[in-house]
Amino acid sequence: MIETRVLKPTDAVLYEAAATLAAGELVAFPTETVYGLGGDATSDTAVARIFEAKARPSFNPLISHVQDLDEAFMLGDFDERARSVAEVFWPGPLTLVVRRREKCPISLLASAGLDTIAIRVPAHPLAAELLRAVGRPIAAPSANPSGRVSPTMAEHVLAGLAGKVSIILDGGPCSVGLESTVLDLSGNVPSILRPGAVTVEMLAPLLGSLTTADTTSKIVAPGMLESHYAPVLPVRLNAETAKDGELFLGFGEVSGSTGSETLSASGDLTEAASRLFALLRALDLPGASGIAIAPIPEVGLGVAINDRLRRAAAPRA
Ligand code: TXA
Ligand code: MG
Repeated sequence: MIETRVLKPTDAVLYEAAATLAAGELVAFPTETVYGLGGDATSDTAVARIFEAKARPSFNPLISHVQDLDEAFMLGDFDERARSVAEVFWPGPLTLVVRRREKCPISLLASAGLDTIAIRVPAHPLAAELLRAVGRPIAAPSANPSGRVSPTMAEHVLAGLAGKVSIILDGGPCSVGLESTVLDLSGNVPSILRPGAVTVEMLAPLLGSLTTADTTSKIVAPGMLESHYAPVLPVRLNAETAKDGELFLGFGEVSGSTGSETLSASGDLTEAASRLFALLRALDLPGASGIAIAPIPEVGLGVAINDRLRRAAAPRA
C-alpha cells in the first residue's frame, strides 16, 4: 500500500506532483473529461504500475497526454488531415490514434505493442500546468478500478484507488464528464472508436468519409458488449418508471419521490453528460434492486451517453 494524499493545487503541490511523476510514481489529476490516473508514458515501470493499480485484466492501450501540438507531432505521424483535426479540437476532449514515429519514446506497454499511439492535449488548466511542469508525455486512463464507473470528482478517485496512487490533485468536478472521443486516423478511412463530446457532426466537415464503431449492432449480440462503466447494482435501460425496489435515473423533469434523480431537469444533453457518472455512483446503493434509467435521445452528445449506458447495462463477466 502507498500513502494516498488528496491535495488542492498550489504551485508547490504541482511541482511535487510533477516530481512524483518524473520518479515513476502515479498521480491522479483532473481533465475536462474525467480524472486520469497518470504515470510517465515513457517508463515501462510507471505504465505497469497503472495497469496494476486499475487491476486491468488485459493490457488495453492507454492514452498519452501531452502539453501541446508540437509535442504530439514529435511522437506520432500526423499527416495534413490529422494536423487539421488537431488544430481545430486541441486542447480538448478528443484523442487521436496515429502511427508511432520512429524512435517514439512512448512505452510499448502503453500502446500494448501496437504500431499506433493514442494522444490527447487536454484543455483542463490544471492538467495543462502539470504536463508543462513534468515536460514529458503522461499516460492516463480514467482513474477508477477496471470496469467501474469513471471518476468525475477527486473523492471518486479516492474511493476506488486509495493506497494505489501517491497524489490525487483535487480540481473539483470535471466539466464534460464523459471520456474523450477516440478518433482513429491511422488508416485510410477515419474511424470513431469511442463516442464523446467531439461528435460525428463536428468531425464530418473536416474528414469527409468517417466510420463509427457500430454500437447499435452490438445490442443485438449483448454478449459481445464489454461490461464497463458499471455500478454494482444491475442497470435497466429505456425505463419509463422504476419497478419495485429500483431507483430511477430520469432525463427531464422527474417526480420528487426519494430514490429518483434526473440527469437534467431541462433535458439538456451537456448537463446530462457532466452528471452521468456522479449520479450512477450516488444511486448505487446497497438495499436497492437495481437502477432504472430513462431513454436518452440518440443525437449529439446523447450518442456518447448511450454508449456508456449500454456498457453499464451489459452482462457482467
Ligand atoms: O477522457 C479520456 O480519454 C480519459 C482522460 C483521463 O484523458 N482517459 C481515458 O483513457 O479514458 P482510457 O485508457 O480509459 O481509454 C483509452 C481508450 C480505450 O478505448 C483504448 O482502447 C483506446 O483509447 N486506445 C488507446 N490506444 C489506442 C490505439 N493505439 N489504438 C486504438 N485505440 C486505442
Ligand atoms: Mg476507462
